[in-house]
Amino acid sequence: MTILVTGGAGFIGCNFLHFLIDNVSDKIVNLDSLTYAGNIRSIEKLNEFENYKFIKGSICDKQKITSIFREHQITKVINFAAESHVDRSILGPEEFINTNINGTFNLLEVSRLYWSELSEENKSEFKFLHVSTDEVYGSLALDEPPFKETNPYQPNSPYAASKASSDHLVRAYYHTYNLPVITSNCSNNYGPYQFPEKLIPLIITNALSQKPLPIYGDGMQIRDWLYVTDHCEAIYKIINEGLIGETYNIGGNNEKTNLEVVQTICSILDDLKKNKEGSYARLITYVKDRPGHDRRYAIDSEKIKKTLNWQPKETFKTGMTKTINWYLQNSEWLENITSGSYRDWIKKQY
Ligand code: NAD
Ligand code: DAU
Repeated sequence: MTILVTGGAGFIGCNFLHFLIDNVSDKIVNLDSLTYAGNIRSIEKLNEFENYKFIKGSICDKQKITSIFREHQITKVINFAAESHVDRSILGPEEFINTNINGTFNLLEVSRLYWSELSEENKSEFKFLHVSTDEVYGSLALDEPPFKETNPYQPNSPYAASKASSDHLVRAYYHTYNLPVITSNCSNNYGPYQFPEKLIPLIITNALSQKPLPIYGDGMQIRDWLYVTDHCEAIYKIINEGLIGETYNIGGNNEKTNLEVVQTICSILDDLKKNKEGSYARLITYVKDRPGHDRRYAIDSEKIKKTLNWQPKETFKTGMTKTINWYLQNSEWLENITSGSYRDWIKKQY
């Protein structure tokens, strides 16, 4: 059995690989093109394991993926590789189309050709899990019920539209070619190794260096936060026990406004790393809103809870305390990132 993980040097991918290496003895191949979001330091500990191999390459490179499938006899594919930041998709959507749509298409096409030539027994072992997002469902009003798997797709940002498009391709490969695929749609993740362009690590990073904590618009937008290890466990359940052709929504049951999230980070930091100039909350600054900003996301996780017996283990408070402690203890990892091109991005965005 060989598991191909794409995008394993990114935030969720590297957390998943750390989880996987502790749980399986199968061969694991990590394919990542190491964009600005991919970080070799996040996966360096994995090199100690004989059953793990890193390959630098893109899911857009058809020849490379074909040879990886043949050489490593891939049995499971877990596709994390993507451009993932909404604000970047607004400033420059092209890479989102290339990787999220064309890259996923390539991976599906290579999988289909490879899978079609397998023996019946090996065919039945093969699975392709596409890791997607709740943003494909669009925005909820305050009084609407959380997203179910049956909600219509209504993506609002170039990022969400590119993920929606990739989800449709995955679905089509099942219906047309019977390729054994599954899609998961997850809510906002947080935890160790998240690149500090996303809200939670950005706020922690800025607070620690006494910089303004930017809140878009009125700060009343709602996200459903899930600790990343809970997401990894859900993915592991889905790849092992999930039904072919199905989609699974994964959420934290933790709806919070952005302002609440930022205030929680400030109050945990006030306890863990007291600042002599007063609470970190004094750094909160309202800035220009994100264009087309979705107001609310929330996930109904009943299906995965009932059928695969999964539910999140962390509360928002326990997950957030773990996360902040991780960033406090891994200042070198953070310093390494927050130089060079990261500074250029922050200058452009804020
Ligand atoms: P990330 O941006 O931290 O990591 C993406 C990884 O993919 C990076 O290592 C990058 O180098 C790699 N990559 C990018 N383009 C590539 C290509 N063409 N070929 C190979 N590798 C490439 O993203 P993340 O937050 O870890 O998200 C992982 C996946 O989960 C994405 O598909 C995202 O849409 C989805 N997702 C994320 C969240 C979240 O809250 N972060 C929630 C739900 C779903
Ligand atoms: O819902 C799942 C999605 O969650 C994933 O598919 C995406 O890959 C991931 O990036 C995330 O998207 P969001 O846009 O929700 O996450 P982000 O951390 O960028 O922003 C969270 C909320 O915080 C959002 O309402 C925008 C707001 N925000 C963000 C930043 C970076 C601010 O108010 N200030 C900021 O500086």
